[in-house]
Amino acid sequence: MNRNELRGQTTGGQSLTLTMLGNYFLSQPTNYLRNISTTGSMENTTAMTTPDTAPPLRVGMVGHAFMGAAHSHAWRTAPRFFDLPLAPELSVLAGRDRGRVTEAASRLGWAGTETDWRALVERDDVDLVDICTPGDTHAEIAIAALKAGKHVLCEKPLANSVAEAEEMAAVAAEAAARGVYAMCGYSYRRTPALTLARNMVRDGKLGTIRQVRAQYLQDWLSDENAPLTWRMDKSKSGSGALGDIGAHSIDAAQFVTGQSITGVSAIMETFTKERPVGGDFVGLGGSGAVGAGVERGPVTVDDAVVFSARFNGGPIGVFEASRVALGRKNAMRLEVNGSEGSIAFDFEDMNYLNYYDGGTGADPDSRGFRRINVTEAHHPYTGNWWPVGHGLGYEHGFTHQVVDLVTAIGAGTQPTPSFADALQVQRVLAAVENSAGQDSRWTPVDGQEGHTA
Ligand SMILES: NC(=O)c1ccc[n+]([C@@H]2O[C@H](COP(=O)([O-])OP(=O)(O)OC[C@H]3O[C@@H](n4cnc5c(N)ncnc54)[C@H](O)[C@@H]3O)[C@@H](O)[C@H]2O)c1
Repeated sequence: MNRNELRGQTTGGQSLTLTMLGNYFLSQPTNYLRNISTTGSMENTTAMTTPDTAPPLRVGMVGHAFMGAAHSHAWRTAPRFFDLPLAPELSVLAGRDRGRVTEAASRLGWAGTETDWRALVERDDVDLVDICTPGDTHAEIAIAALKAGKHVLCEKPLANSVAEAEEMAAVAAEAAARGVYAMCGYSYRRTPALTLARNMVRDGKLGTIRQVRAQYLQDWLSDENAPLTWRMDKSKSGSGALGDIGAHSIDAAQFVTGQSITGVSAIMETFTKERPVGGDFVGLGGSGAVGAGVERGPVTVDDAVVFSARFNGGPIGVFEASRVALGRKNAMRLEVNGSEGSIAFDFEDMNYLNYYDGGTGADPDSRGFRRINVTEAHHPYTGNWWPVGHGLGYEHGFTHQVVDLVTAIGAGTQPTPSFADALQVQRVLAAVENSAGQDSRWTPVDGQEGHTA
């Protein structure tokens, strides 16, 4: 069976109809579904698929819940929409419970299973280990995988401490010298509007960058009866809103500006100090279905954090991360002001980038923020998807992450963000915690070496 036939199948090959439809459309000279617009004309997209001749990249993934599902989707989808140098194969899925990992492998499209990540890392038929587990497991799995000669994709934040992240970055540097590569999953970088923002800053459209305003606001912990999960246990997660979502803002701000944070002053707060043990989880956290008599356990991380920052090229910034910002669901926002212009982004409106052209050439009468619909074929990543204006979603960032990772591995180059880049984010996280623990004292970020933003 060739790869086009496999593409049309559901897991286990149950659907003959889908197989035939898939092969019909994929057999067209260009991808028919993606290139036809709602007006009937063909769009000038560059939709592609990975050729059957591409050598396989056999993936083993650890963890199969939220990120496990997002990454599975990305590994399955990337070769169907992008021409990759290697063809990802969903080879082995690891989880701790035999029944749950078997069910997840069937649902998410994995060929085999293991109940111990160590067995997955030792397998000869795995070329890359994808780590989708809580932060307390990242260092051990990533280091073992790199030492076993496997490429690694590790979810963020890289680790639960700077010491762990330093060891991971050191092992990754040794592995890279042998052509074995590691990348950290700061997936928001791959949102087309944020990549476009980075390109505009890099191309000088904003002039000299002066200010950065970054917020990441969610509300799933607003309910004081939302159950206690690993995300509220410092020994498993490292920190709360700070590392869970603030880390994305730090990476995105450094990525878009091309600059590194050099120092911070922070406040952290935990509004609900005890939460019910057990209970039903819904989405990330769950809500008030837990009775008053139920046992409660301590929350050992922050619900919210705010900090001010300086960047190495001169800008100043303010950051805010919260899981109790009632009404805000996934408001990952970034605003950057320069001497010539500004950009503003909000993930709740993720297909748009707002741009203000304040340059001397701009017509003063028509000056104002422009809403750029970042779905044109010439925008980052978007030409491989739908006709203009049809929009992308949360899952596309993970697919683009796979595309960039596999492209770099195929070219024998270091993918970004590297573990060294992610170590720098870890140092910012540590500086924020240290500052908050010392009445917001100004705290420099240690060791900027090796960070490429
Ligand atoms: N890039 C992003 O946008 C993004 C979004 C959410 C989470 N994350 C990160 O992804 C990672 C996982 O988060 P999640 O939301 O998927 O968590 P989750 O709770 O939904 O899933 C965690 C999975 O890891 C498994 N697991 C835990 N310990 C394990 C062990 N020792 N061995 C094997 N499996 C183990 C669990 O059984 C579960 O399948 C975290 O590092 C988190 O910060 C990233």
